[in-house]
Amino acid sequence: MRRKIAILISGRGSNMLSLLDLQQQADFPAEISLVLSNRPDAKGLLGASKAGVQTAIVDHKEFSDREAFDQAMNSVLEAHGVNLVVLAGFMRILSPWFVESWQGRLINIHPSLLPLFRGIDTHRRALDAGVRIHGCTVHYVVPELDAGPIIAQAAVPVLPDDTEESLSARVLAQEHLLYPQALRMICNDAVSLQGGRAVYHPAQKWSSANDTLLSPVLV
Ligand code: GRF
Repeated sequence: MRRKIAILISGRGSNMLSLLDLQQQADFPAEISLVLSNRPDAKGLLGASKAGVQTAIVDHKEFSDREAFDQAMNSVLEAHGVNLVVLAGFMRILSPWFVESWQGRLINIHPSLLPLFRGIDTHRRALDAGVRIHGCTVHYVVPELDAGPIIAQAAVPVLPDDTEESLSARVLAQEHLLYPQALRMICNDAVSLQGGRAVYHPAQKWSSANDTLLSPVLV
């Protein structure tokens, strides 16, 4: 199945741009057809337009409650024929109704090695905890925040003189490699959600040049 993808953002959209680069690869078997923001001033909207991708704004401030906002967003996604939703710095908690409607077709990237440091301020909390390894996780979204089945992870060292800024930059560089690889695998049907876990189908051909980041999860 050739998927139609929407990327949901709230801010600068650097992960979104790394995902849009997939469209330059002739063998990417999907189409990123929409970038949707809940904030009209999200910087990433400009980047999406420059890349020639259609954009939409569903401003959460215009809705009385979370579910009304999610329903409006759902209508836009359906109108564009979207069948895979990719959260990339989307800073709204989604209602259980929305998450369940998109089960197995809704993914997120989180800037920590889950299940450590769910929620916000992950780099600050990693430094405070004194961990020596930190990183990022791509996961399926479930109603509980940052608790969904893990698809892929990338790790970075925490260095003695790290600040929140230096550590977040090191993690972000890995996010920009990991998320496109994970999305490509999903679109190649090399991984799917089965029985509450991300299950790999090793018989599928991988076509990424940088598979080493992901190989430890292929057990
Ligand atoms: C990233 O660190 C991502 O892991 C988190 O939000 C941040 C978004 O950054 N969910 P960007 O908008 O993709 O630059």
